[in-house]
Amino acid sequence: PEKWFGVVSLFPDMFAPFTQQGVIGRAVKSGKLSVDTFNPRDFTHDRHRTVDDRPYGGGPGMLMMVKPLTDAIHAAKSIGGENSKVIYLSPQGKPLDQAGVQRLANIDRTILICGRYEGIDERVIERHVDEEVSIGDYVLSGGELPAMVLMDAVARLVPGVLGHKASAVEDSFTDGLLDCPHYTRPEVLDGQKVPEVLLSGDHEKIRQWRLMQSLVRTKQRRPDLLNHLALTEEQQRLLDQ
Ligand code: ADE
Repeated sequence: PEKWFGVVSLFPDMFAPFTQQGVIGRAVKSGKLSVDTFNPRDFTHDRHRTVDDRPYGGGPGMLMMVKPLTDAIHAAKSIGGENSKVIYLSPQGKPLDQAGVQRLANIDRTILICGRYEGIDERVIERHVDEEVSIGDYVLSGGELPAMVLMDAVARLVPGVLGHKASAVEDSFTDGLLDCPHYTRPEVLDGQKVPEVLLSGDHEKIRQWRLMQSLVRTKQRRPDLLNHLALTEEQQRLLDQ
């Protein structure tokens, strides 16, 4: 496949609907994308199949037990290769944005470590993890949903995963701006008409209108995005007028 993800998780079943449905399901079925899971529980040897352990220093909560976790990471590496990029999903990581997604889309084999409980031993991060990634400033109960968020965002940039109908290059954030509003039938909904320009058939006028909508929305809703953006001459002119 074009893109391989190895996912280290105590809950591999969570990935079944993700890999079976919709755009991602099609990408997997057509062989463009492949997702293999590695469960630390499969690398336990005690009668209770223990995967958690107590934190040194005490306090509430447990950590992932080191040996089953590192055995699962090594199993993933034995499939993806020693050069696989290892990412640990955690709120302490670098916040993921579309530029980060584009960078990750250029990597062929990626191993995603999903934490549970209070997380993993810091030395496992130091020894095995190349990058720590957060999907936002809130705390989830495990890294599985963040791993799926990352894989979804990356997979849709793999050539052929999106049909030409919904090309990734036309998406919101590809130019660093929010998306423009969209309209479909009926032409009048509860007395509200679709913006006239969209019915004009003038494709250049429609393009300019959409760009203007994107600029105004971004300025109103996410002015922070405009700050670190190099606007094109046309974008700056439309925003100034
Ligand atoms: N694990 C728990 N919360 C997370 C977040 N916000 N991002 C990435 N991994 C997480």
